[in-house]
Amino acid sequence: MRFRFGCVLFLLVCLLNLPAASAQQVAATPPMGWNSWNHFAEKVNDAVVRAAADALVSSGMRDAGYVYVNIDDTWEGKRDEKGFIHSNEKFPDMKALADYVHSKGLKLGIYSSPGPKTCAGFEGSYGHEEQDAQTYAAWGIDYLKYDMCSLGEILAKNGGKAEFRQGMLDAYKKMHAALLKTGRPIVFSLCQYGLYKVWQWGPEVGGNLWRTTGDINDNYARMAEIGFGQAGLAKYAAPGHWNDPDMLEVGNGGMKPDEYRTHMSLWAILAAPLLAGNDLSKMTPETVAILTNREVIAIDQDKAGKQGDRFWAEGPDEIWVKPLADGSKAVALFNRLDEWAGPAMMKVNFRDLGFTGAAKVRDVWNAKDLGSLEKYEVEVPAHGVVLLRVK
Ligand code: GAL
Repeated sequence: MRFRFGCVLFLLVCLLNLPAASAQQVAATPPMGWNSWNHFAEKVNDAVVRAAADALVSSGMRDAGYVYVNIDDTWEGKRDEKGFIHSNEKFPDMKALADYVHSKGLKLGIYSSPGPKTCAGFEGSYGHEEQDAQTYAAWGIDYLKYDMCSLGEILAKNGGKAEFRQGMLDAYKKMHAALLKTGRPIVFSLCQYGLYKVWQWGPEVGGNLWRTTGDINDNYARMAEIGFGQAGLAKYAAPGHWNDPDMLEVGNGGMKPDEYRTHMSLWAILAAPLLAGNDLSKMTPETVAILTNREVIAIDQDKAGKQGDRFWAEGPDEIWVKPLADGSKAVALFNRLDEWAGPAMMKVNFRDLGFTGAAKVRDVWNAKDLGSLEKYEVEVPAHGVVLLRVK
């Protein structure tokens, strides 16, 4: 009897704890790093990735927390006669590249699709999931972005909505099982553009993060559409499992500094993965300052792992709040109006946020303590933000 109870207990521990433990082992806080797609797209190659790794170190970004160096689509070559994938001529030696990245105290990420073809038309993992996971582990890969792409066409042919949804879940589960089998901790990043409310089932298929939308672009309108569109998803984020509103565009040149500060602040409030998407080897001091602001990063990476949400909105003025582990709250005041409309006066009453009496308030981007206040009124630039840490 005791033996049987022991067995049941063992099974329960395995069933309940193992997936949770493996999820927490990686991505206990939202992953931070760099991804090649937003700036380099198909022009990514070995030299670009090495230069990104070098720049993460020399710019201070690694020490600020950016550790994943993620190769996106277009690295894939042909399969050999046994079905094992090889990198193409742009990446002559993936293992050597991983060794180089690791030697800098960084981690290497890669990209594939559960379909036969990736979105850029390269070789996907369909039917080769275990082999690919083994290959990634042998190379020393630490992160996999798994992008639905051509799987959608196959699933659409094979049945209705329920079958489509199930087929997608099965495909992600399959790769997750293959990754677990390698014994190497590999962050599993789901990319299927938020279809079928992925936030509701992302953890179940082993996702450490899941894209909640289609692709970001380097302009305020699209960034804002995606970022502010995350309202209501906070309850689905937790250590090991993050909503992913896509990679950063900071430094790519399409937005003004105020807009990039809005982008970075909003992603921090959202506890979003912070994957820089710019050319790290050519950054202005302002770009480095935005990406490496320690206080903003601390809000994103807060160990409570609570995503923030919209607290108040009146037309284009919005206040978003994120609860932090030490009892403080990050409070972001956004003015979404276009430049011609000029700055907006915005007011926040800290009592409304649950503070009794005066609260200690710090202006994060200006690195300035504002003192003990019951409320605060401030001018917020067009498309800009005032980010506060309130205790
Ligand atoms: C898209 C994905 C992008 C990028 C691209 C590569 O589907 O959302 O982030 O990975 O594919 O082809």
